[in-house]
Amino acid sequence: MTRSSEAILKTSSSKSYSKAVSLLKRGETVAFPTETVYGLGADALNSKAVCKIFEIKKRPSFDPLIVHVASIEQAVSLWSRVPEDAKLLMKRFWPGPLSIVLPKKQHVPDVVTSGLETVAVRMPDHPAALKLIKLFGKPVAAPSANLFGRTSPTTAQAVLEELGDSAKLILDGGKCRVGVESTVVKFERKKCVLLRPGGVSVEDLEKVLKDKIVFPGKKTRHDSPGLLKSHYAPRAPLILFDSLEEILDKLSSQKKDFLKRQKKWPVLAAIFYSKASRQGILFKKIQVLSLKKDPYTAASNLFQAIRKLDKLNPDFILAEKAPEAGIGRAINDRLDKASGANEAYKRFQKYF
Ligand code: TXA
Ligand code: MG
Repeated sequence: MTRSSEAILKTSSSKSYSKAVSLLKRGETVAFPTETVYGLGADALNSKAVCKIFEIKKRPSFDPLIVHVASIEQAVSLWSRVPEDAKLLMKRFWPGPLSIVLPKKQHVPDVVTSGLETVAVRMPDHPAALKLIKLFGKPVAAPSANLFGRTSPTTAQAVLEELGDSAKLILDGGKCRVGVESTVVKFERKKCVLLRPGGVSVEDLEKVLKDKIVFPGKKTRHDSPGLLKSHYAPRAPLILFDSLEEILDKLSSQKKDFLKRQKKWPVLAAIFYSKASRQGILFKKIQVLSLKKDPYTAASNLFQAIRKLDKLNPDFILAEKAPEAGIGRAINDRLDKASGANEAYKRFQKYF
């Protein structure tokens, strides 16, 4: 169901920007579209304003924010040291879904970085986001515009559903093109380390750097404090499979067994990567991420698909992995974190 709200203003109107800028100048928050997901922005250099983001999202203070800029110069003004490789990445991928973590300058407030000595910065590839940051004239700190731990919003309506009355203004720029968050990298001992897979693929980064990207092991997880295991979660337990096709026969025979014993078949929903089978028989509703098996289309549909199915209040959402390459890595990372791993799987096994 869609609910209209006075808080939502179209990015096509110039009045929307003057309202947004005046809110930012007053130290308030504004939700805005980027090419990845919607962000909840505030003046990155105003600690009090940034604190409001944490309050609204119910985000723990140990989870640092990404600062959004409208130019490379603006990014460089936030960092104390910029290696040549970072310059290469900015030139090639900005504006775009790549966040770069480097040592911060002193004037970047500690609340933004959760006390870390580094700050993550990116230049979003969305005309409305760039226009907003340019008109505001200062960098904008913005996490995804969802409550902490939940699925990121890819439409203005989804932001409203997440934040409700606490959203003062939501700039509506339509559905986000990329659909999963930015790739986050940092530089360590001259190596580029992947902290979060996202809109820019590891393969593309390696091509530009002419070097391998380092995947941090479990031990170094705390290097990117926000990367908790349970994240991007729908309310319904989500169970992740390598392939759904492989379990359909088993589910079908289980359903027959349920009917024989006059046991109620659970409300199941499913996210297929490309092919959908036995919709009406086993599942109440399904979402197909990309009929043409295009991983970019799949990524752009992912969070909306999770949201749509979650609204049915199903007993379980079953999902299958994307091929583990390119942006498919980001899809699988988000599905894995949405799955709440063992807990949901145990419940699922118990049910059958
Ligand atoms: O695409 C995106 O990146 C979106 C849009 C709005 O730009 N933003 C986003 O922000 O996904 P958020 O807050 O949901 O995720 C930011 C993550 C943190 O959870 C953390 O893992 C990492 O970026 N991060 C931020 N600053 C960091 C730092 N200084 N060191 C290591 N990791 C950092
Ligand atoms: Mg987020």
